[in-house]
Amino acid sequence: MTGDPLFAPINFGEISCANRIVMAPMTRSRAAPGDVVTGLHQQYYGERADAGLVITEGTQPSIHGKGYCRTPGLHEQSQIDAWRAVTGRVHAAGGRVVVQLMHVGRVASRHNKPPGARTVAPSAVRASVQMYTDAAGMQDCDEPEALTLAEIPAVVEEYAHSARLARAAGFDGVELHAASGYLPMQFLTANTNLRRDAYGGAAANRARFVVEIMEAICGAVGASRVGMRICPANPFNDVEDPEPELTYGSLLDAVAPLGIAYLHVVRSPRRAVDAFAIARRHYSGPIIVNDGFHGDSAREAIRGGVGDAVSFARHFIGNPDLVRRLRDGLPLAGFDRHTLYTPGPHGYVDYPRAPA
Ligand SMILES: Cc1cc2nc3c(=O)[nH]c(=O)nc-3n(C[C@H](O)[C@H](O)[C@H](O)COP(=O)(O)O)c2cc1C
Repeated sequence: MTGDPLFAPINFGEISCANRIVMAPMTRSRAAPGDVVTGLHQQYYGERADAGLVITEGTQPSIHGKGYCRTPGLHEQSQIDAWRAVTGRVHAAGGRVVVQLMHVGRVASRHNKPPGARTVAPSAVRASVQMYTDAAGMQDCDEPEALTLAEIPAVVEEYAHSARLARAAGFDGVELHAASGYLPMQFLTANTNLRRDAYGGAAANRARFVVEIMEAICGAVGASRVGMRICPANPFNDVEDPEPELTYGSLLDAVAPLGIAYLHVVRSPRRAVDAFAIARRHYSGPIIVNDGFHGDSAREAIRGGVGDAVSFARHFIGNPDLVRRLRDGLPLAGFDRHTLYTPGPHGYVDYPRAPA
């Protein structure tokens, strides 16, 4: 590869991307009532569409998958219509965009859920985590109901259905959020999965739910439009995995034959665990690496074969023109953490571009 490795084109399955700068998924809690995206989302994503690939904020595939305030959904016609305007904006700017499907499982408060929504998990183990709710301020997470064996196929189908709707909404593909201690990772991890049936116990059993989701999504939209995000051994949201190589080796060995578009790997916060190396050992397709990269370290990661592309989250918040800044070596702006999750345009679409 000659020239700037960040600007070499890359194909993730059928998704052809102009460069290797990926916008990482970021929950920003700006959805309107009905969990629909708005004109603000069109502007926010449209302005960042010169990334090779934009990955949206975590988006619930069903009402049961919602846990936080003001997160968008992708299960109703109104939500499809609203997302279509976002994907249209990204495509009009020459970009590519996939939706991240995120089911929070037990990381939820009923105060943030619509009527009729359940809180489910592999086992009835409450997350020792608090979350913000618009209705009642900070709240403990609710104790989840353990999914019965008979209920699991319907949850898997929620993902597949949402993936089909994603294509109807104009997305180039979908990414399964299997990191950050949400429902898929709750199945993968022994302290949150106490099941004694085919979905619990040995690593291959703990991986089964995620593998079934991946098979279902790939069946729905084609594997060449499906990615998966993992972060081995991340304790975020009260999960604890003492054997990440075993867990993720099992998962990736089972997913590998599907031939998915990409694997998105977040660096492990545990120094002894090299998540990128685990990924390379068990998966031979394109890998997007994430966490803590800046321009030069991203170039180094691609040149050194650690990853094939690099995703940036926080740098994209305050730099709508991050791609240009990386290309031209311009300084990067910071961001205000107080407006990360607040409603409205402030701190979302009002960060300036660098002077021309
Ligand atoms: C405000 C914010 C919201 C986030 N929301 C999500 C999310 O919805 N899904 C997800 O997989 N990761 C989410 N993340 C994690 C980022 O995608 C990324 O892994 C992390 O910020 C590290 O990358 P960075 O160093 O480039 O910021 C979020 C991060 C931030 C800062």
